[in-house]
Amino acid sequence: AALQPHNTFGIAAQAQRLLRLRKAELLPDLVRQPGWCAERLRVLGGGSNIVLTGDVEPLVLKIEMLGRRLLRETEAGYLVEADAGENWHDFVAWTLDRGWYGLENLALIPGTVGAAPVQNIGAYGLELQDRFHSLDAVDLHSGEVHNLDAAQCRFGYRDSVFKCERTVAPGHGRWLITRVRFWLPKRWQPVLGYLELERKVAETGLEQPTARQIFDWVCQIRRAKLPDPAVIGNVGSFFQNPLVSREQCAEICARHPAVVHYPLPDGRVKLAAGWLIEACGWKGQTLGRAGVYEKQALVLVNRGDAYQPCSGADVMALATAIQASVLERFGVRLEIEPELW
Ligand code: EPU
Repeated sequence: AALQPHNTFGIAAQAQRLLRLRKAELLPDLVRQPGWCAERLRVLGGGSNIVLTGDVEPLVLKIEMLGRRLLRETEAGYLVEADAGENWHDFVAWTLDRGWYGLENLALIPGTVGAAPVQNIGAYGLELQDRFHSLDAVDLHSGEVHNLDAAQCRFGYRDSVFKCERTVAPGHGRWLITRVRFWLPKRWQPVLGYLELERKVAETGLEQPTARQIFDWVCQIRRAKLPDPAVIGNVGSFFQNPLVSREQCAEICARHPAVVHYPLPDGRVKLAAGWLIEACGWKGQTLGRAGVYEKQALVLVNRGDAYQPCSGADVMALATAIQASVLERFGVRLEIEPELW
């Protein structure tokens, strides 16, 4: 099966076998099939956070379970659930349309609901874990369904127990997320701490914006500086923002006073990878058929065409060159953010 339509970077590659999963109930049977191998399996959602470095031999399971529902309303809030194959942005818009606020800062993030907890998606001052209630996941070794709360998901910055390298949890097999639940309190508070949202408040004079207003602002901000994957292939931020010690940050600041950095409560400091990459002169550059987006240096883009398509090797060559120059200039190693297949 061709994987090009299934990855937002638009890399051409083949999967030996691709199975579309529309019903989670079929999983236990699938797991018991002879020849099933939980370790040699790739779980595919919207394909917006993967880089295909070649053809894919393991079975690709494309998650297409659909459905979303209000499970419970109390005086305090709403418990809302969506199946893993639902489009994340559509789900956010759907909750807002019903007056269930709280997910607006996470508007326009590409991908599916089921993929959202894997890297604890976050943007504009909010992370998935801030609104998360629980999820259902199938143990791919036994076929059993488990209900996991936030603690069991072990969320971190762009991280969780579901990340590929950590999916084999002690006593458990690999997890496949089938449903995710969110708790949206009725006493809604806007999250406006992010610089660009503060700017919108200042520009418009709206100090008490509605959730809908924040949703619109986030969409505007994202459209202004992130490429639409439907137009230019990309997977969002290509690297994580690196965390360094306070001492290391002080050294870097001494030599490069303009470096954008955010002190964290735990004493470490998060550096803006986009700034580091831009400072190395990469913004807008092209290497082979892969490029650095001209409006946001943290985003790598597909500059191929039908005659000379961009390959996974093009993308990795550019990524490696960027890592080398940031390491050389700042002594900081950038970690790749999407999953490499
Ligand atoms: N910057 C530059 N040059 C650039 C890009 C950024 O100097 O080319 C500086 C900006 O001036 C800004 C700072 O870096 O002060 C941060 O940039 P931005 O607000 O664009 O956010 P980011 O740190 O690059 C992160 C997330 C995004 C998320 C935004 C908003 C990661 C890896 N990325 O990007 O998430 O949308 O914050 O919250 O944490 C994604 O993960 O795919 C993603 C798009």
